[in-house]
Amino acid sequence: MPQLAYVDGQYLPMAEAMVPVEDRGLQFADSIYEVAAIFDGRLLDWPEHLVRMRRNCAALFISLPQSDAVLSHIARRLIAMARVRDAIIYIQVTRGTARRDHVFAPGLRPRLIMTVRRFDFRQRIPQQAKGVGVTTVPDQRWGRVDIKSTGLLANVLAKQDARAAGSFEAWFTGPDGTVREGGSTNAYIVRGGTLITHPLSAHILPGIARQSLLSLARGAQIPVEERAFHLDEALGADEALLTSTTAPILPVVRIDGLAVGSGRPGPITARLVELVHAEIARQTGWRA
Ligand SMILES: Cc1ncc(COP(=O)(O)O)c(C=O)c1O
Repeated sequence: MPQLAYVDGQYLPMAEAMVPVEDRGLQFADSIYEVAAIFDGRLLDWPEHLVRMRRNCAALFISLPQSDAVLSHIARRLIAMARVRDAIIYIQVTRGTARRDHVFAPGLRPRLIMTVRRFDFRQRIPQQAKGVGVTTVPDQRWGRVDIKSTGLLANVLAKQDARAAGSFEAWFTGPDGTVREGGSTNAYIVRGGTLITHPLSAHILPGIARQSLLSLARGAQIPVEERAFHLDEALGADEALLTSTTAPILPVVRIDGLAVGSGRPGPITARLVELVHAEIARQTGWRA
């Protein structure tokens, strides 16, 4: 069963998993989520995902009753039952079910949902060789996008437009023209051998792949700067790239149809791809 769900204590085929119509996640996007990668049946960066999920719950005053050990048990059981090798686990915690009212009563029982479905990470290999394009879009999201909430309408519309324009991803720009992040990825440029990415703030999601990439780069003596960069600087950069759980690392070779650097993946990105693959292999045994 390559698509399975866990809802309210039950393990079910995805198509049979349901939530009540008054779930606050459904009505208000009053919920947070996580996405983690499974390579060769093993979870990548799982402790980091749990830490972020707890931080997000705390930010919304949702107290998740399950311990990390219980969450890990459910996740691993779902993966085993689904009999998947390469897959994505999606976790959502909603505030729970209540009569519709913006104001929430204390003591609601949070709803824990997990789903597992196959995912082909090997589709990234040709994309890593060729690179992808991005389209920029003014950031119209709310002011706390560091919280991984399911209120993703601006991301959905931006990514839809980007795909319609033939791009892989949308890059959100701030009112000052700085590049913040992608619709579901973090954004980077390389200038003079230095990897540059927006600093952690309320304007970007603290990506787990970002955290891992910065630590791998520093470990390999690649200089890293966490600072805002302007779209003009990105257009004049030597290289650009993006990261996320589902696209661990991809070179960005076009921004709004204009070539970045040579218009082909560059040497720092190629080195970072090697480092990311080595880290995935170290944690899970998976080989690109
Ligand atoms: C807006 C946004 N930025 C960045 C990311 C990358 O985060 P991660 O590396 O944890 O997948 C995501 C992932 O969904 C995202 O939605």
